[in-house]
Amino acid sequence: MRQVNLGIIGGGTVGGGVFQAIQRNGPLMSCRLGVQLHVARVAVRDLRKKRAVKIPAALLTTDWQSVVADPAVNLVVELMGGTTTARQVVLAALKLGKPVVTANKALLSAHGEELFEAAQKSGANLYYEASVAGGIPIIKVLREGLIGNRITRLYGIVNGTCNYILTRMKNEGADFGEVLADAQKLGYAETPPDLDVDGHDAAHKTGILASLAHGFWVNPKQIHVEGIRQITSLDIQFATQLGYTIKLLGVVKQNETTTGPKRNGCAPVQVSVYPALVPNSHVLASVNGVFNAVFVRGDVVGDTLYYGRGAGQDATASAVLSDLADAALDLKCGTKSRIPPFVPHERDGTVLPMDEVVSRYYVRLNVVDKPGVFARIATVLAKSKIGISSIIQPEGHAGETVPVILMIHDAPNSAMRNALARISKLGAVKGEPVMIRVESFE
Ligand SMILES: NC(=O)c1ccc[n+]([C@@H]2O[C@H](COP(=O)([O-])OP(=O)(O)OC[C@H]3O[C@@H](n4cnc5c(N)ncnc54)[C@H](OP(=O)(O)O)[C@@H]3O)[C@@H](O)[C@H]2O)c1
Repeated sequence: MRQVNLGIIGGGTVGGGVFQAIQRNGPLMSCRLGVQLHVARVAVRDLRKKRAVKIPAALLTTDWQSVVADPAVNLVVELMGGTTTARQVVLAALKLGKPVVTANKALLSAHGEELFEAAQKSGANLYYEASVAGGIPIIKVLREGLIGNRITRLYGIVNGTCNYILTRMKNEGADFGEVLADAQKLGYAETPPDLDVDGHDAAHKTGILASLAHGFWVNPKQIHVEGIRQITSLDIQFATQLGYTIKLLGVVKQNETTTGPKRNGCAPVQVSVYPALVPNSHVLASVNGVFNAVFVRGDVVGDTLYYGRGAGQDATASAVLSDLADAALDLKCGTKSRIPPFVPHERDGTVLPMDEVVSRYYVRLNVVDKPGVFARIATVLAKSKIGISSIIQPEGHAGETVPVILMIHDAPNSAMRNALARISKLGAVKGEPVMIRVESFE
């Protein structure tokens, strides 16, 4: 095959970006691959819509089914988003034996297991590089570059909107609401912003990375998710004074020694998304603005880091092009991909329940400034077998109540939550305690 005909479903931000990138670098790719990528048809919702990237009218249709079924289309590119029609698009293409490229993390998170099974049955592949961390080729890294490693740690800053908000809160001392409103005006945050700021988008991506790294499909319901709405400029300021930066992290950890008993012969994997204090000496603390980064530790390679733009038209188009190249080479050579995009290989894999996850913590309490208060708080923690590594009462906060920061040693999540519930009932403690995990990257 000297030419691969693409049927693209979606001509919006990413679809337009892919169309434009093929016009720009199609000839270069064709030299490198020995096969030409040709956009045969593009399905959109509204033919009259003004598009930032012009797509010739002759290519456009509103009938995605006719694009998928078109015998001239060899490769289907799903760039419409959503989880209902997009699922039908992918299943219909695979049923016809056509490989599919998608950028749709929500779709994979919700229906990944079904879609990869359909791909396996059909003999066609499903590619998804653009679904996680935009322009960073992290899927290829896990699938190919680190294939000889067990992945013991993976930490991702995978939501650009949250990273942009947290970066500006730190740099400007601004509040969450203020920066969010500005980010929405500038187009860095959606309206409503819930999918991003409540951590769900990061959870979709973290689940995909965890599944790929550990070889079993992680059910999104098993991922513990916390967003960044509750992060205040006060906590960012205290974290800075203590030598930390707050980041929203996707965390995937497997630890043979500290995660308790093995289940079905393999150690359970922590898969969670939460804001965490990252030591300023760690490289992830300096990933700022809309940039993404993924830190991966393999048992053979050691620590590795991948950094780049996590979203946007061009970065995402770059990831789609990489998948198009893989799929086009498979079609040209008449083979399935040398390394299939997802192979379930750890059928007994399980997710560690969040209650059993052990972390260090930053806790901020508002307490009445009286003698004996610290002793009462320390007693509650001691009864729960939770050790305090330091207590700090930041200066310059006079008033009826004052903030107190506790840095807590490793403790299970459930024990910490129960202890904080008891501490919040002490008469001298006002308001809800703030608890943020501290990541040590050990
Ligand atoms: N934007 C990013 O930076 C980014 C980054 C990584 C991954 N992604 C993923 O990429 C996918 C696309 O995102 P996007 O930002 O490009 O979205 P978008 O700008 O809203 O584009 C969606 C496209 O799909 C078309 N469409 C919607 N329903 C359709 C239907 N029933 N039949 C035919 N076409 C239909 C729309 O047509 P009209 O143009 O006529 O409305 C539009 O062209 C999503 O899964 C998203 O999560 C996006």
